[in-house]
Order: sequence, then structure tokens, then C-alpha cells
Amino acid sequence: MQGGAKMEKIIDLIEKEMEEAFEKAGYDRAYAKVTLSNRPDLCEYQCNGAMAGAKTYRKAPAVIASEVTANLAKSACIKEAEAVNPGFINIRLKESFVADYLNGMNEDHALGLSRAEEPKMIIVDYGGPNVAKPLHVGHLRSAIIGESLKRIARAMGHEVLGDIHLGDWGYQMGLIITELKSRRPELPYFDDSFDGEYPEDAPFTISELEEIYPTASGRAKEDEAYREQALNATYLLQNGHRGYTAIWNHIMNVSVADLKKNYENLDVCFDLWKGEADAQKYIPDMLRRLKEEGYAHMDDGALVIDVQEETDTKEVPPCMIQKSDGASLYGTTDLATLVQREEDYHPDEIIYVVDKRQELHFVQIFRAAKKAGIVPEETKLRFLGFGTMNGKDGKPFKTREGGVMRLENLIAEIEEEMYKKISDNRTVSEENAARTAKTVGMSAIKYGDLSNQASKDYVFDVDRFTSFEGNTGPYILYTIVRIKSILNKYEENGGTLSGIKMQGVCSESEKALMLEAARYSEVIQTAFEELAPHKICAYIYDLANVFNRFYHETKILAQEDENRKSSCIALLVLTKRVLEACIDLLGFEAPERM
Ligand code: ARG
Repeated sequence: MQGGAKMEKIIDLIEKEMEEAFEKAGYDRAYAKVTLSNRPDLCEYQCNGAMAGAKTYRKAPAVIASEVTANLAKSACIKEAEAVNPGFINIRLKESFVADYLNGMNEDHALGLSRAEEPKMIIVDYGGPNVAKPLHVGHLRSAIIGESLKRIARAMGHEVLGDIHLGDWGYQMGLIITELKSRRPELPYFDDSFDGEYPEDAPFTISELEEIYPTASGRAKEDEAYREQALNATYLLQNGHRGYTAIWNHIMNVSVADLKKNYENLDVCFDLWKGEADAQKYIPDMLRRLKEEGYAHMDDGALVIDVQEETDTKEVPPCMIQKSDGASLYGTTDLATLVQREEDYHPDEIIYVVDKRQELHFVQIFRAAKKAGIVPEETKLRFLGFGTMNGKDGKPFKTREGGVMRLENLIAEIEEEMYKKISDNRTVSEENAARTAKTVGMSAIKYGDLSNQASKDYVFDVDRFTSFEGNTGPYILYTIVRIKSILNKYEENGGTLSGIKMQGVCSESEKALMLEAARYSEVIQTAFEELAPHKICAYIYDLANVFNRFYHETKILAQEDENRKSSCIALLVLTKRVLEACIDLLGFEAPERM
């Protein structure tokens, strides 16, 4: 794909002219910082550099501001730079400049996105489901946010691998083995003298498996002996027991097939299906080295790495990497996974998308990994902790009956709601209604999640999320569908979409739409740097709003002046492409009609 590296961000183009104007007036270009106007009624962009420079130059900011603006008369992009009291510079852009800029975006596959000059190798660790336990809404956020970050990083030109990091090595495996043994002791896996081939088919289906786990987990809580057995089975599995390893393989096959189906349904796609189990083989060497080189020491029978730093205001407990009984822990696995990732990919950056309650764990891991040289000092390890998805009662989301909501059921519920609305609208044929409901339902779920800052808890409100109005996924899709329908009519009437260009601006709402569309590159870059898909949501909500205002105020298809009409249509083409590119980065898509 042709990248947009050649196109600069619009704000940078403005800032460059501003820098020259500051310099020409005898001031440091560093003061020429331009920002989006916070008073759109007064101007489009603004520069507060004269205020900042007043102290250094011992001059009234208003004087600096007018000296600077005097140099902007011949600017290629600035139509009006006004020095206003006490020293702000208010900027309005030339219509021809904005139109040219947008035409440039329209000609570029990447819509002028400035891609990274030095692509980095980035791993996104997200999803993190626990094998054999049903996927529930708690896993939804990691999948949705991580998928979006992965797509954003890739669009920025980086080499990105999404790794699901399955929880596939824990106590749940011992529980399942124990329960299976108690139900079907005759199976060859439990016969230590058996040395033949184990059956190829799993002794359970996915629905049986999903029943076995909670049953076993419940029994273990009541029955101490049962719990001991499960712990022992976990231990034996982790130490290579032949029969248990065969059961583990069955659990993995059955479970992973089901997980794949579920994630596919969510349009979430992992490049790597590695898990905790894959990290195990790196543990013995890692532990030996950490001990030998003095990074780890014994503390109360356990092996730990100290990670407290002098500047800490709170206590950061040591990172425990081996229990007194020799067992490894969550942290051991995460460190060993870093060993593996370093060996296989030598990443520049790893982003972990995990429940924010695990933050301390990651602080410990990151520090231990850097301290012990498991990853180089310059490797960026980032933790994006997300909040809880709550129900309307403000408590973690549950089913109506109060149980844990399964992901599949949640999706089905949303789709059903969407199906009703779409059928009521009657713009979609019966056979397309179900497919459209699925597409729109996905936007409701994903946008509902991503439009909140990840670290915050949010309320999953089906009625609000599925609404066609307000700050919702369906509203964004509705806007795209509206544009598509205008463009289709234009083509049906003999118009062609290729090669048309924006030429000037006719109204305030048109200019507002153009200015908003021009911000695309900057928004995506910020969303990437700050790991903030919610900034893309905020942007497309604004963009959809200004588009709809323009649409209501403007004759488009009924416009008699053909040049004017094609100019508007070119703007619509761009608006649609920007919206579509953004929702793709968020992980959903728009239907043809709805
Ligand atoms: N399986 C874990 C859980 O359900 C999440 C894994 C997060 N990733 C990691 N590298 N620890 O809590």
C-alpha cells in the first residue's frame, strides 16, 4: 500500500508558516506552537506563543503578536491572522489551501496519514482468555481495545503482532483433569500402566467442558481432598505426566476451536496463538541465570527479585518467581514469555492490554525484566489497564438472572435489538436484515466500549448503545450510510466519482466539515501515541456531526452549478473515506443500508 509519508499534518503546515513569521520578527521559532482553536466561534486555529514569549523578550504580548501577524500577509495557508488582546493570535485558513490539502488526502490510499519513518516491531498482548473457561464479558474489553490498538499501530506503519497469550497452564487444567477422573476413571489417561496411543478424539465436547470446569471449581471449594487432588494433577501436568498431557491437548484443541469461532465473530484476529504453556520451556534456564547472576534471591523460602525503587512513594513488593515448593507463578510465566519474545522477535515495544487491577503485577514484571536484562533498557513495555464493564446498576455486568454473561449471549442480545430496529426502518430487505443487524450490533458494542477512555469503568447500556442518535456506533454508521446513498444517487444520475476535486468553499458549515476532515492524520497519530482509541471515537463523532449539519444546510444533488455539485461530492467522498478508515481502526464496518 502506498503510504502517505510525503503528506504533512495540516497543523504542521500551519505551524511552519508561523515559525517563519516568529523568526522574521526576531523571536524564537519555538514560540510558534499552533493548536486547534478552543473558540471555534472566533477562529479555526490559534497560537499563544506571544504570551509565552512576553517574559523572555520583556515585551507586551500584544506587541509581539502584531509583529508576528504582520509577517503573515503572504502566507500560503493562512487567510487571516489576527492579534487580539492580550496577545493571542487567531488564525483562519485559506479556503483554497484547505481544499488542496483535502484533494491531496483524497488522492492518497492512506488519506495522507503520516506513517512512521522508522517502523518499530510492536507486540500487542491482548485477549488473554483462560482456556476451558467460557469467554465472558470480562474478556470483551481486552479483545476490543487490543484489536483497535493493533490496527492503529499497523496503520501508522509499524510491524505489529497481536498475541492472545492464552491462560492455558493453570489450576483450571488440574480441576478439569480431576473432575474427568472422578467421572470416568476407566479412561486410559488415568491408567499409569497404559503405554499405547491415547484416543484421537477428546472425551468431551465444548459444552461438556464448559460444564465440567464450574462444577470442578465448585467442588474444590467445598472439598479439601478434591482440591488437593486438583493441585496435584496440576503439578503432574506441569511436570510432564503423559496421560494428563494428552488430556491437556484435548482441552486445548476443543477450547481453542471454540475461542477462534468467538473471536472471529467479534472480528478480532490474533497473529499469534501462544500461551502461558509455551513459556514454560524457558523457565528453568531463566531461573538459573537469575540466581547465578544475583538478580534473584531467596526470601522466606521463595525466589524473588527486588523491584523497589528509591523514588517510589509506595511499597512495591518483590516480584516472586518461584514458590517454596518449586512451582512457578503468574509472574514467572510473564517473565519467561518476555525471554521468548525477545528471542523470537526482539520487539521495540510490547503493549499489554489487561484489567487495570493487574497493574502492580505489570509494574513488577517490567522492572524485573529491565533490571535482569531480560529485555534491553530501551524496549518500551507499556501497560494499558482497562476498567470494568458495569451494568446499569453500576456493578460488574451480569445476566438478568445475575450470572456471568457469556459473550455469545451478549452479542446475540444486541443483534436481536438491532434486528428489531432495522426491520422497523424497512430500508433493508428481509434477507439482509440479519446480516445488517450483526454489522450494526458490532458497532454498538465496540463503539460503546471504545468511546470511553480505556482506564475508566463504564456502563454497558444496551438501549443507549444501540440508539441511532447520539454518541453511538449506529449513529456513525447511519452517517456513513447516508453519504453512501447520496453518492450512489449521484452515480445513478450519470455522475462519476473519480477525478472530481474540491474547489473552494461556499458556506460556514462546509468549511467546518473540511477543517474537521483535514485533522485525520493528527488524530490517528495522537491515538497511537497515547494508546487512546477513544480519541478516534470523539473525532468521528464530531466529524459526523459537522457532516450532518452541512447536509441539512446544503443543496447537494439538487445543486444546479455542476462544478459546485462535484466539489461537494468530492468532499462527501473524502468524509466517507475518513469515517470508514476510522471505524476500521476501531474494528468494525458499515453496511450498505440500514
Ligand atoms: N489470562 C489472564 C487473565 O485472565 C490475562 C493475561 C494477560 N496477559 C499477560 N501477559 N499476563 O487475567
